[in-house]
Amino acid sequence: MANKISLAVLISGNGSNLQAIIDNIKNQKLMADIKIVISNNIDAPGLEKAKASNIKTTCINHKNFKSRELFDDEIIKEIEDQDVDLIVLAGFMRVLSSKFVNKYKRKIINIHPSLLPKYPGLNTHEKVIENNDIEHGVTVHLVEEGLDSGPIIGFAKLKIHENEDEESLKKRIHKLEHFIYPKIISEIQEKKIKIENKIYHEGNIYKHGKEFFI
Ligand code: GRF
Repeated sequence: MANKISLAVLISGNGSNLQAIIDNIKNQKLMADIKIVISNNIDAPGLEKAKASNIKTTCINHKNFKSRELFDDEIIKEIEDQDVDLIVLAGFMRVLSSKFVNKYKRKIINIHPSLLPKYPGLNTHEKVIENNDIEHGVTVHLVEEGLDSGPIIGFAKLKIHENEDEESLKKRIHKLEHFIYPKIISEIQEKKIKIENKIYHEGNIYKHGKEFFI
């Protein structure tokens, strides 16, 4: 069995994805250690969720830094103190500098509530409803420079119900996120997904991501 994977999880808010990762570790579906949870927001409820599971936390307020690079340098210091295999962005609302992204090339993943490349950025549920889309979903991708961009590792879709509102969509999308994010981290840990120059999945070149379910 492959070794446990060590994670740093970066958050800014509620931390429900963080909680899903913690729960999957607790019930041994995910062989991982969360070495540190870093938030840029002291009021992030996710910090309390981490503390409740005895996970080391730290808050680095971006407002205290003159530039993105200086803020990222502080995050790098925290991460370098730990032995981390993968940096997991879970609702982290800051764009990382190119210095950070290049330093941890192919070691940072993000989850985004849309079927990328459709709808990068905020308010994805609203946009899906406005455009009368018939499907919506979540994407997990490697982080490169640029907002919500980088090679896709996996995605999950759902069909939009008739007259569905934003609130209901948001709930169903969260459920999907809580399923797919721990699963993909686990597949990376088990080396079913290999992130090298390209992304490989169980021996096959994995160009367009894997559809988990509709
Ligand atoms: C999620 O919808 C995630 O896709 C996006 O930010 C949200 C974070 O939610 N990047 P939570 O803090 O994990 O509840």
